[in-house]
Amino acid sequence: MPRLEGKIAIVTGAARGMGEVEARLFAEEGATVVLCDVSDDAGQRVADDIVSSGRAAEYVRLNVTDEDNWRQVIGDAVAKYGRLDILVNNAGISGYDEEDNLGTTTWDRLLDINAKGVFLGMKHAIGAMEQGDGGSIVNISSISGIVGQDFLHMGYNASKGAVRLMTKSAAIRWAEAGIRVNSVHPGLMPPMAGSSANSETRNSMMTNVPMKRAGRREEVAYAVLFLASDEASYITGAELVVDGGFTAQ
Ligand SMILES: NC(=O)c1ccc[n+]([C@@H]2O[C@H](COP(=O)([O-])OP(=O)(O)OC[C@H]3O[C@@H](n4cnc5c(N)ncnc54)[C@H](O)[C@@H]3O)[C@@H](O)[C@H]2O)c1
Repeated sequence: MPRLEGKIAIVTGAARGMGEVEARLFAEEGATVVLCDVSDDAGQRVADDIVSSGRAAEYVRLNVTDEDNWRQVIGDAVAKYGRLDILVNNAGISGYDEEDNLGTTTWDRLLDINAKGVFLGMKHAIGAMEQGDGGSIVNISSISGIVGQDFLHMGYNASKGAVRLMTKSAAIRWAEAGIRVNSVHPGLMPPMAGSSANSETRNSMMTNVPMKRAGRREEVAYAVLFLASDEASYITGAELVVDGGFTAQ
């Protein structure tokens, strides 16, 4: 039986990258997937492609920093499909400002999208899940939410560390309500949009990965799928690293 048979799932940042792969995998595993992003053309193309392969999906614009937008997207999904079972808070940005690395513009943007976006997603998804049979929230953090990196990436570290601990607080608070909340921590992966990592930087990072290779998006998607599914029914507040052994050192 498909692992998400009959589930209703929202995946943010689903127009490209890991979110796209997660949305495709969820649909293959029987979920109806609401793909959300601010990159409308790409998001619509992915949703159309999923539908043309006979699976259930739709694209809806969602800027994760906008609380009214969250209210509307989750309200519409519940009105249309009857409930919400799964939320993957995947949307995120990388970035730093080399010119102004003590400035707060980049810091604010990182915290707004990566941390507040996840907070708002949990807040509104939990409201919907409480009205139903509970649910599963998977928050995408990073190894940068577990170990430090460098001065330039402190904003990213702070945002991903926030995701890691918000996950645990929500897991504790809503455990009795049947809402599980876990975090996934990818390591060195294909670069994010706008990433600073050139091939020299990536190669030097690679030497510190025990498996000596970058991860594949599917390898993260399968971890997310497991935590989203009922197979993980006794797992909440956990952090699952998908990093080729990096944080084991
Ligand atoms: N790629 C990596 O090396 C890596 C490593 C660890 C963790 N992560 C995390 O995994 C997640 C996905 O990363 P990726 O590599 O697939 O990134 P990506 O840049 O390929 O895709 C991110 C998606 O999020 C969307 N997005 C950005 N801002 C948004 C907003 N305000 N509202 C809605 N959508 C928005 C983008 O349009 C894009 O489609 C992120 O949270 C990232 O921090 C990535």
